[in-house]
Amino acid sequence: MGINILGMGSYVPEQTLTNDDFTRFVETNDEWIRTRTGITERRMAGWEPTWYMGTQAARKAIEAAKINAEDIGLVISCTATADFHTPSMSSVIQNNVGAVNAGAFDLNASCTGFVYALDTARRFLETDSSMKYVLVVANEALSRFLDFTDRSSCILFGDGAAAAVVERSDKLYSSALGSDGSGAGYLCARTLDVAPEVAVEKDFDDPFPKMPQHKLYQNGKEVYKFATNALPKSFTLAAEKIGVTSGEIDWFVPHQANVRIIETAAKKLGVPMDKFIITLDHYGNTSSVSIPLALCESIEKGIIKKGQKLALIGFGAGLTYGGIILEY
Ligand code: UT7
Repeated sequence: MGINILGMGSYVPEQTLTNDDFTRFVETNDEWIRTRTGITERRMAGWEPTWYMGTQAARKAIEAAKINAEDIGLVISCTATADFHTPSMSSVIQNNVGAVNAGAFDLNASCTGFVYALDTARRFLETDSSMKYVLVVANEALSRFLDFTDRSSCILFGDGAAAAVVERSDKLYSSALGSDGSGAGYLCARTLDVAPEVAVEKDFDDPFPKMPQHKLYQNGKEVYKFATNALPKSFTLAAEKIGVTSGEIDWFVPHQANVRIIETAAKKLGVPMDKFIITLDHYGNTSSVSIPLALCESIEKGIIKKGQKLALIGFGAGLTYGGIILEY
C-alpha cells in the first residue's frame, strides 16, 4: 500500500539573515559560507513560536488538499525544536486547524523527521481502515537553540514549517529507516540538565560532550562523513525492496544540509545533480522541514508533477537516516 499526497503547504518567517549578517556575530564571510555549504540566506523566526509556523503550514496543506479538517484521523508533528516539553506540537496544531477527530503525537527523528513521520502516517493508514487522512507537519525554530558564537554551526540553519495531507493509495511506495546511535554525541542539544550530584555519584556512560543547555553542538566533520554515506544508503535500501533503480527516479529530494554532501551523494548514486531539488541556498538547513519545504516549493513551481517518481532521502541527529520512494 502506498500513499497519495493530497496537498501541501509551507510557512517561512519573513526575517531573512544573509551570510553577511553573520559577520556581526562571528568571524566569517559570505564567500566561505557559500563555497563550503551552498547557503546564501536563511529565514529566522522572530516572534513566531514553532507551533505557529506549523499551524500556518498545516492550514495551507488542508486547503490545498481540499478536505475538511474534521476528516483528519491523525496529526503527526515532527520537530526537534518544540516550544514545550509537553504538550506536543501536534495537539496544539490539531486544535488550531480544527482537526477535532484526530489523534495527535510528536515524533523526533531530527532532520530525518519528515521521512519517519510520513512513513508512520502510511503505516497508520494501512492498519486503520477508518482513518481517511493523516496530517504530517514539520516545524522547526532552530535559531532558538543555535550557539551564535560557533561559526561552524550557526551559519547552517534556518527556521520554517511545511505540511502534507496524505491518504492511502495503491501507488508505488517503499521506505527504509535507520539509525546509528553510536554517533549520537556528534549532533546534539541538551534539554534537561543532569543534576550535578547525580553526575558526580553515578558513573554512567554519557557519550555527549560538555555543552550549554539548549544550545546545539555539532562535530561538523563527523556528521559530514556520516551524511555522504547515509544519503545514498537511504535511497538504496528503499529502492532494493521494490527493485527500483536510481535511473527511474524523476526527482531526488534530499535533506538540505550542505550542497557538497548532496553532490557527493549524487556521484555515489551515479545520478546527475539536475535531478536533485536544491533549496538550501535560500532556506539553509531547516532540519525536519527541509525535505517537505523543498517538495512543497517544487510542487508549487510546477517542477514536480503528478505521476512522477520521487525519492525523499534524509539524515540527521541520532544519527538517523531514512528514505522513501513514492509516486507523487
Ligand atoms: O542536518 C545535519 C546537519 N549537519 C550537517 O550536515 C553538517 C555537516 N558538516 C558540514 O557541512 C561541514 O563540516 C561544515 C560546513 C560544518 C564545515 O565545513 P568544512 O569544510 O568541514 O570546514 P572545517 O570544519 O574543516 O573547517 C575549515 C576551516 C577551519 O579553520 P582552520 O582551523 O582551518 O583555521 C574552521 O575554523 O574553516 C573554519 N570555519 C569557518 N571559516 C569561516 C568554520 N566555519 C567557518 C565559517 N566562516 N562560518
